[in-house]
Formats: sequence, C-alpha cells, structure tokens
Amino acid sequence: MDPKSLKMEEKKWNFDEYDWLEKYDQRMQDLKRLYYKETLEQLPILVSAQPNELVLDIGTGTGNSAVPFLEAECRVIGIDPSERMLEKSKEKMRKWEGFFSIQHVDDPFLHIPYDDGIFDIVISAYAIHHLDDINKHKAITEMKRVLKANRRMAIADTMFNDETHKSSALSEYHDLEDEYQPLLSTFPMMFESTGMNVTMHQIGELIWVAIAKKNREIRWNNSMPFIQNV
Ligand SMILES: C[S@@+](CC[C@H](N)C(=O)[O-])C[C@H]1O[C@@H](n2cnc3c(N)ncnc32)[C@H](O)[C@@H]1O
Repeated sequence: MDPKSLKMEEKKWNFDEYDWLEKYDQRMQDLKRLYYKETLEQLPILVSAQPNELVLDIGTGTGNSAVPFLEAECRVIGIDPSERMLEKSKEKMRKWEGFFSIQHVDDPFLHIPYDDGIFDIVISAYAIHHLDDINKHKAITEMKRVLKANRRMAIADTMFNDETHKSSALSEYHDLEDEYQPLLSTFPMMFESTGMNVTMHQIGELIWVAIAKKNREIRWNNSMPFIQNV
C-alpha cells in the first residue's frame, strides 16, 4: 500500500502496512536531511551512557537507535507498536542477544509497561512526531516516570522553529510528510512544565535532540502534628 494513500491517523500508527518497510534501514540512511547515523551516534554521548546501564528505547523500530547504546555496553529494551519492524530487529540484533530485548506495545509512549524509576536512560529517535502536542506532553511525563532520579532522557527528531518554518520546509522538502513534528517554540516548555531541565542540541538543519534531566524530587509531608516551642 502506498503510505500517501493512508489517512493521517492510520499513517501514524501503521508501520506494519508500509511497503517500504523492507527497505527501511537503507531509506533512513539515504535521506540526508535526517542526519540519521550522526544523530544516533550522538545519543549515548549526549546522555553520558555508561556500561551496564539500562536503557529504554521507545519506538525502537528495527533496532538501529539501540545499537550505539549496545556498543557503549548498555543493556537496551526496545518497545514499538509495529510487529513487522520488531521482527526485522530480531534478525539484525541477534549478535546482541542477552543485551537487547524487544517488546511489542500498542501505545509505547503513553503506556510504558514498566515500574517507576527503573531506567538509567530513556530515549526515542524519529518517533515522537507520531504524537500530537497533547500526547507529546503526556509521553514526556510517562518517560519521566520510568526514569531514575538525576538521569537523562533523549528525544531526537525533525523539528521546526514554528508553524511558518514548518510550512516553508514542507514545500521545500517533498519527501517530508506532514506529521506532528515538534516545534522549537513549544517543545522545550513541555519538559520544563514537568519540572525537568532541558537542553536542545542541533545535529542538522532540521534535526534536533532534546536532552532532559529528571531532578531528584523532595517529598514534603506536613500532615504530621508537630510540637511547638512555647
Ligand atoms: C521512523 S521509525 C524510527 C525507528 C528507530 N527509532 C530508528 O531510529 O530507526 C518510527 C517508529 O515509531 C513507531 N511508532 C509509530 N507510532 C508510534 C507511537 N504512537 N508510539 C511509539 N512508537 C510509534 C513505528 O512503529 C516505528 O518503528
């Protein structure tokens, strides 16, 4: 099926239906504007990944975004809604057996099937544009939930300055699909509103990585009776 013939909603979710799925890895490398290799290589550096750390890769697809972390000797769990993309990752990632595992999850940004605070690093590459702004904000909150305190998350994708920049880029780059690419005018604030510090790193003309740190949270309990000095 031609992806362009899919309705917007179907297109966002249904990588399983894409004819070009077989050529996914090649297509990502060929699209120069994605800075694919450079971006994926930067992710472990930007989050200061260390050996043995546990990484969650949301929208892992065929596993390419997990590879630089595996090379940095981390352990990675990849989750994705596309069974066919995950199937392709299985073939390719055999050499990382024991260090890379995958799980099919219908809604991996919004319902992460893991407990609070268990990951050293949470990443997502070229996938957040599948979510509208309300869900992007929910996704950041959910990613923060599963991240350990004082640790970092990374979200890489095509991003535009604002709506005007987006329309001019869409008319210039004919391969760019009209999806929910983050806007630099609003995206960083989504991290700040969840209490995280964020830094935006530019890798290519339209390619940015948001690195956000989950601060240690202090819980105040002022419900106890206390003795007043008289
Ligand atoms: C362009 S691929 C990126 C894959 C991989 N991270 C990479 O860098 O090559 C986008 C991935 O996002 C997944 N996806 C689509 N909708 C999603 C959603 N709502 N939540 C999480 N992942 C989604 C797709 O199945 C696909 O594997």
